[in-house]
Amino acid sequence: MDLGLADRVYLVTGGGRGLGRATADVLVAEGARVVLSGRTEDTLAAALEELGDPAHRDRAAYVVGDNADPDLPRRLIATARERWGRIDGALVSVGGPPTGTVTATTDEQWTTAFGSVFLGAVRVAREVAAELGAGGSIAFVLSTSVKGPLTEMAISNGLRPGLAMIAKQLADELGPRGIRVNGLLPGRIGTERVAELDALHDDPGAARARAAQGIPLRRDGEPSEFGRAAAFLLSPAASFVSGALLPVDGGSLRAL
Ligand SMILES: NC(=O)c1ccc[n+]([C@@H]2O[C@H](COP(=O)([O-])OP(=O)(O)OC[C@H]3O[C@@H](n4cnc5c(N)ncnc54)[C@H](OP(=O)(O)O)[C@@H]3O)[C@@H](O)[C@H]2O)c1
Repeated sequence: MDLGLADRVYLVTGGGRGLGRATADVLVAEGARVVLSGRTEDTLAAALEELGDPAHRDRAAYVVGDNADPDLPRRLIATARERWGRIDGALVSVGGPPTGTVTATTDEQWTTAFGSVFLGAVRVAREVAAELGAGGSIAFVLSTSVKGPLTEMAISNGLRPGLAMIAKQLADELGPRGIRVNGLLPGRIGTERVAELDALHDDPGAARARAAQGIPLRRDGEPSEFGRAAAFLLSPAASFVSGALLPVDGGSLRAL
């Protein structure tokens, strides 16, 4: 199947590593162009260096910026327009919020996470939407916490379901212009973040093995497995998929 991604241009926030980067890899390999963003220039520069085939490096650019920065969308859009003269969509990813119980999470942690995880995502989507024409596509990287609470992930459990409803409402608002909006619900995908969370346990290997018992496929997902699902949702091949929340979780979600 041809995904129809050739020469299309996508913005990928949180694109230096993890799920954003894995999606950018697939987009570029399929012929698209990407503007990555993240807070650390070294990570972004390394991502550009490593992105797919050396012949494809002119298919990527980056912008250093925090999703919480109100000026980030403008700079992403300007970079895409200057470099390739078009924008076809965005994958909105960001760093995961801190872990913790509701009773131990402070106002400051909530406020900081709201700025980057929630408002940052809404703002990027809103500003990108203004640039898109028919065939445009926006995808939010959310979590299985949209449908079922994760242990000691108060902020994720609190913010992600709201963002899922934002994705649904935005699909309603943008659908008449031929623009699609979807959300992805990753379960355990073996990115740097998941390795960092496992490392918080006394025995990270045992924690990983315990987690695998709750996944019907009995393993973590590979970042590339997520990247392929996300690239599909962004692509014209998914032309009648909008307002959907797609789990990429090896079957772990207990909710429909
Ligand atoms: N991996 C999973 O299994 C999984 C499961 C459920 C949900 N998720 C969610 O999916 C998202 C991505 O996860 P991941 O595993 O890819 O995480 P990751 O490996 O930590 O990668 C996150 C990327 O986002 C960037 N980033 C972090 N904070 C940012 C900010 N405030 N503004 C802009 N960029 C920022 C990071 O670069 P800099 O630090 O340089 O900015 C990094 O490139 C997270 O929100 C996570 O909670 C992941």
